[in-house]
Amino acid sequence: MNEPSRFRPERPTWRARLRRALAMGVVGILASAGVVILSGTAEAATTLGASAAEQGRYFGTAVAVNRLSESDYTATLNREFNSATAENEMKWDALEPQRGSFQFDTADRFMNHARGQGMDVRGHTLVWHSQLPGWVNSLGAGDLRTAMNNHITRVMQQYRGQIDSWDVVNEAFQDGSSGARRPSPFQNLLGNGFIEEAFRTARAADPAAKLCYNDYNTDGQNAKSNAVYNMVRDFKARGVPIDCVGFQSHFNSQSPVPSDYRANLQRFADLGVDVQITELDIEGSGTAQANSYRTVVNACLQVSRCNGITVWGVTDKYSWRASGTPLLFDGNYNKKPAYTAVLEALGGEPGGDPDPDPGTGGCSVTYDETDRWGDRFNGRVTVRAGSSAISGWTTTVTVSSAQDISTTWNGSPTWDSSGNVMTMRPNGNGGLAAGATTSFGFTVMANGDWSQPRLGGCTAA
Ligand code: XIL
Repeated sequence: MNEPSRFRPERPTWRARLRRALAMGVVGILASAGVVILSGTAEAATTLGASAAEQGRYFGTAVAVNRLSESDYTATLNREFNSATAENEMKWDALEPQRGSFQFDTADRFMNHARGQGMDVRGHTLVWHSQLPGWVNSLGAGDLRTAMNNHITRVMQQYRGQIDSWDVVNEAFQDGSSGARRPSPFQNLLGNGFIEEAFRTARAADPAAKLCYNDYNTDGQNAKSNAVYNMVRDFKARGVPIDCVGFQSHFNSQSPVPSDYRANLQRFADLGVDVQITELDIEGSGTAQANSYRTVVNACLQVSRCNGITVWGVTDKYSWRASGTPLLFDGNYNKKPAYTAVLEALGGEPGGDPDPDPGTGGCSVTYDETDRWGDRFNGRVTVRAGSSAISGWTTTVTVSSAQDISTTWNGSPTWDSSGNVMTMRPNGNGGLAAGATTSFGFTVMANGDWSQPRLGGCTAA
């Protein structure tokens, strides 16, 4: 794979380094030896994830699994983000629609994609009053307690060791001035102690995951955030396991970025927890929207325990608040002014090389899984030309010996003698303009082995 691990800053080719170094005028000439010395200063990153990584943070997005079959969606996701949250696929109604019957297929696809790209994962969410299946609402207190702990345990064990932070409890406080807990089956039947119990159960189920409390309208200091603050302070004082607080940060003109946003993040951090911006979206457009995004990113950068930012979707067209165009990419995946503001705030370089690593052969390949059934899955390989046009390409896909590729489309395959290595070339004219992409697909019969196919390098003609 040519894709760098998403957590490491990109390593541009020496040519890209030289080009930028020349452009930045940081080349010194050692005249006596006739040697050109490049400045050792860090290269500006060109994506959200890579620039956040250079600040010691992640930059993530909510992902909708049913959009992964759209190649522009997946290309933008894979290129820009180094952390992912399932937008709906890991909520209680999705994972345990009937009591004791867990459905992990779709969430597994999310995990496979994110981990296949080297992304960090936020788990969202274990205990929440919303998107809760009907059966939970009809339980008595004893059954509800058992069901809550069982849900936390089963889900966390499924992804044990693979989740960086889990939203253990989401939105348990009321809006407004009361500072009270929000009515829910958990609150009504189990009382305030349900939150503590959920965190203790979660710690036992996956000790490696950071455990977060997550909420909205807690972004500035107000009655609701004060109530959460008091709970976190109490948890820390009594040794209840909590590691992080998530601030959803859904903003619009009625609910703008509060002026004490940074100060509020800092007071939570001072309790000894990490703080994370977990569902950022800001309705608006143009410069005003860009300025609000910049304010949020700068606030996080100024709080050392603010270790990452997640925006709530890749593109405006699939946002849960699409009419407010609240995200960083428009419906055609163009970068908005807000994108540039975020990238610059993170120390990145706008307008950078769109292909960070064209590879020696002048093209690069990336893999993603687009569909999965009980016995097989579909894979897709995206071929991208480097900085020059190419007239043809060749790449290989290797499957494990148990697996069989049963069908292919949009390419001409040949096979090695083992039948495990498929060499793919374009169907007919394989011309691609500089930076342009094409893709081919195939179905893999798993035969019990669900490992991801391995890609060889890409060679261009
Ligand atoms: C939203 C999703 O974006 C929608 O697709 C879904 O219909 C409803 O939930 N707070 C949360 C998120 O914690 O899980 C919500 O996500 C948005 C508000």
